[in-house]
Amino acid sequence: MLEVKNLKKNFGKKVVLKDIDLKVNKGDIVGIIGPSGCGKSTLLRCINMLEVPTSGEVILDGNNIVDDKSHTETRRKIGMVFQQFNLFSHKTVLENIILAPTLLGLMTEKGAIREAKKLLKEIDLEDLADLYPHQLSGGQKQRVAIVRTLMMNPEIILFDEPTSALDPEMIGEVTNLMRKIAKEGMTMLIVSHEMNFIKKFCTRVVFLSDGVVKEEGTSKEIFENPKDEKLKMFLSKINNY
Ligand SMILES: Nc1ncnc2c1ncn2[C@@H]1O[C@H](COP(=O)(O)OP(=O)(O)OP(=O)(O)O)[C@@H](O)[C@H]1O
Ligand SMILES: [Mg+2]
Repeated sequence: MLEVKNLKKNFGKKVVLKDIDLKVNKGDIVGIIGPSGCGKSTLLRCINMLEVPTSGEVILDGNNIVDDKSHTETRRKIGMVFQQFNLFSHKTVLENIILAPTLLGLMTEKGAIREAKKLLKEIDLEDLADLYPHQLSGGQKQRVAIVRTLMMNPEIILFDEPTSALDPEMIGEVTNLMRKIAKEGMTMLIVSHEMNFIKKFCTRVVFLSDGVVKEEGTSKEIFENPKDEKLKMFLSKINNY
């Protein structure tokens, strides 16, 4: 469904991604791990064209997004959830959620409000609809950001450290929502430093280092029987899984 081929990304002379190959099938929950600064966020940003790759291909359902100059049609199928939520502070929860689909003409305002309320109700957040982001907890903000992504009916959602800005007691409510979405069959790519979550939740794990995929495998293979020396070193420094 999603294929990344020979992806390279430089920032000036700095080579961040040397040569990335990655295949994601429908329904996969893929965890991306690796040392800080190894390019995990850059990879996600290249996949949805927030950064234009230096070379290589990002193919979604047979279309190379890198070639598609407007990227809009295909990009719309890729949702993204950020560490810092990126909600508009001067808009209410409901306004934040309906903004993109109504602006792009994908839904009428009435239809968008109906859908937004339905999604909020499903996760017991319907009472928050008229509040502003500063009135919400971190966990509530992140769940609203996830609902906003779901409104676009994406085929895949990219999560860049969705829980790392949250107080520990709020992490569960966000990961529970991610579990619920996964159960419904969503394809996900997740960057996280929460190894325990990655280990338990992801069907496949990719270890990124030195600009390439050093090792990939099932969660069990990566965490219980790592082969690459750098992966072994990376895991030995982390003791929370
Ligand atoms: N817009 C940019 N301009 C220049 N350099 C950048 C830019 N974005 C990222 N980089 C550099 O690219 C490298 C990879 O950054 P990236 O944010 O992708 O790493 P990461 O693996 O997500 O790290 P972390 O785990 O700390 O979030 C870093 O050295 C960073 O400084
Ligand atoms: Mg990052």
